Amino acid sequence: MASEDIVTVEKVIKDFRPGFGLRKKRVLHGISLGVREGEIFGFVGPNGAGKTTTLKILLGLISASAGRATILGHDVQESGFRRQIGFLPENPYFHEFLTGREFLRFYARLASVPRGRREERIQELLGWVGLSHAGNARLRTYSKGMLQRLGIAQALVHDPKVVFLDEPMSGLDPIGRKDIRDLILRLREDGKTVFMNTHILHDVEMLCDRVAIIVAGKIQWEGRMEEFSHDRELRSDVVLARLSPETATLLEDRFGALLRGHGERVELTVAQKHVEGVLGAALGSGAEVVSVTPRRASLEAIFLSTVGRGSKEGA
Ligand SMILES: Nc1ncnc2c1ncn2[C@@H]1O[C@H](COP(=O)(O)OP(=O)(O)OP(=O)(O)O)[C@@H](O)[C@H]1O
Ligand SMILES: [Mg+2]
Repeated sequence: MASEDIVTVEKVIKDFRPGFGLRKKRVLHGISLGVREGEIFGFVGPNGAGKTTTLKILLGLISASAGRATILGHDVQESGFRRQIGFLPENPYFHEFLTGREFLRFYARLASVPRGRREERIQELLGWVGLSHAGNARLRTYSKGMLQRLGIAQALVHDPKVVFLDEPMSGLDPIGRKDIRDLILRLREDGKTVFMNTHILHDVEMLCDRVAIIVAGKIQWEGRMEEFSHDRELRSDVVLARLSPETATLLEDRFGALLRGHGERVELTVAQKHVEGVLGAALGSGAEVVSVTPRRASLEAIFLSTVGRGSKEGA
């Protein structure tokens, strides 16, 4: 957490009591995180990790069992600052007999958008999410992607500073997801701060400035996306032909290469920083370089290893 953070979660614990007399269930184990102004923050974790629970605490919908959370310097238990935040829930309810325009009108009234400003704001928002043509159509005729865009328009109706999105891409096809991603990027361009729950790693890689990974109610990692891949050493796979046994030994000893196979083709994995050395030595010895493939430490690979570690700790 840093002083400039505009959303903070400090050592938050959440226990649920499944029923009278039953043992409490700890869902958040003292989590801490911070979101900087103007960034897209990804809160990433597998099903049941505690993402929605954290979001509900931030939105003041449920209270933490212990710890503290703030938004724009206000304790989330206060109510005066709520005008500054917008929210797209995990499974928004859309009344199918309303038109898109009526739906936004309803939320504009709830969010106390001044009467004289409402229609203009709704028009603006419909245009912004690409639904100008559908404003007068009933929601029953909307596709899932259109509904999700309308849900985002709803979250923005009162022009909030911080926008919370719970799984904004779930259930969408690749085009629908790209539409939502583009909208989220435009939110950042407009100076908004976006807090997004998701488990779609590709979207996180495409969008987020920083992420926190939560597994079984504990934060496993928090930081900038770039650090995320730099944290682990990048490696490359190199395939060589006509490699002599002497050179193979040299590659192992000098560059720590891991060799597989022998004879006509040898495949080896080596740290990125040694690729040049390996290629130089191999070519110098008369071997042939068949291919070099950098292995990007994908968020998915890292995520899976983090999840594995988290569930072992939890066991
Ligand atoms: N009201 C509740 N009472 C008891 N347990 C609850 C309650 N709400 C959530 N939980 C439990 O808390 C854990 C975290 O749930 P949460 O909805 O926060 O996960 P999530 O990370 O949002 O998962 P998903 O990706 O499936 O949306 C789950 O084990 C869930 O069953
Ligand atoms: Mg959830």
